[in-house]
Amino acid sequence: MSANPPFRIDGRKALVTGGASGIGEKTVRVLHQAGASVVIADLNLEAAEALAADLGENATSIQVDLVDPDSVAHLFGSLDRLDILVNNAGIAHVGNVEETELEDWKRVFDLNVNGLFLATKYAFPLLLASGRGSIVNIASVAGLVAVGRRAAYSASKGAVIAFTRQLAGDYAKQVRVNCICPGTVHTPFVEGYLEKFHKLEKDEVRKQLHARQPVGRMGKPEEIAHLALYMCSDEAEYMQGAVVAIDGGWTAL
Ligand SMILES: NC(=O)c1ccc[n+]([C@@H]2O[C@H](COP(=O)([O-])OP(=O)(O)OC[C@H]3O[C@@H](n4cnc5c(N)ncnc54)[C@H](O)[C@@H]3O)[C@@H](O)[C@H]2O)c1
Repeated sequence: MSANPPFRIDGRKALVTGGASGIGEKTVRVLHQAGASVVIADLNLEAAEALAADLGENATSIQVDLVDPDSVAHLFGSLDRLDILVNNAGIAHVGNVEETELEDWKRVFDLNVNGLFLATKYAFPLLLASGRGSIVNIASVAGLVAVGRRAAYSASKGAVIAFTRQLAGDYAKQVRVNCICPGTVHTPFVEGYLEKFHKLEKDEVRKQLHARQPVGRMGKPEEIAHLALYMCSDEAEYMQGAVVAIDGGWTAL
C-alpha cells in the first residue's frame, strides 16, 4: 500500500465537457481539489470563465460547441497534453416515440452521442500519449432501464454505454474507459425540466423526482463527481469498461 493519500491526481491534466454547470461543474471542482489542472470546456463561455476564475490557479476555460466538428477539433488542437477526459455534456428530450420528432431525436444524438464521439476521437491521441489516459463517460439510468417518455434520451445513453465497452475492449492496455449511470441528480438540468414542463406545479413534481429514488432523494452532483474522481485515479487501475449506476437504488429494484 502506498503511504500517499488515495485518490490524488496531482499533476494530471483533465478536461470536462459541459464543465460549467451541474455534474460537470462539481466534477471540475473535485478533480481540481484532487490536484489536477482542469480545462472547463463548455458552450456557455461566461459560466466556464466564472468557474475558472473562482478556482484560480490550474483552471482554464474554453468555449466549445460539441455538435460542431471544427469546434471540437480546435478545442483539442489547443491542448499540449491530456490525461483525463470526462465526457459529461448532454441534453434530454421528454417524449415517447409518438411525441419525438426526427429533429428531436437528431438534436439529442448530435450532442449525447456524436459530440461524445468527436470529443473522444480528438482527445484520443493525447490520452494515448499520456500513458495513463482515462475516460469517464456520463450516461444515465435511462440507458439501462426504461424511465418513461425518454425515447431519444434513453437510446442516446444506451449508445454511450455500448461505446464505453467497445473503447475499453479496443484499448484495454492503453486507456481506461468507464461509464457512470446517474439516477436523478439535482442540477440546473432538472430545474430546467421543471420550468419547461411543470411550471405551475414545480414543488410537487420536484418532490416526485426525489421520491422516485428508493433512498427518497435525488443525487447531489458532488456524489457523481467523486465517483468520476475514483474512476480516473490510480486506485481504479483495475476498473476497465465498467458501467456503474449511482442512483439511490433505482436500478436495484
Ligand atoms: N441531472 C440529472 O438528473 C442527470 C441524470 C443522469 C444523467 N445525467 C447526465 O449528466 C450530464 C450532465 O447533466 P447536468 O444535469 O449536470 O446538466 P446541466 O444542464 O446542468 O449542464 C450541462 C452543461 O453542458 C453544456 N452544454 C450543452 N450543450 C453543449 C454543447 N453543444 N457543447 C458544449 N457544452 C454544452 C451546458 O452549457 C451546461 O453547462 C448529462 O450528460 C446528463 O444527461 C444527468
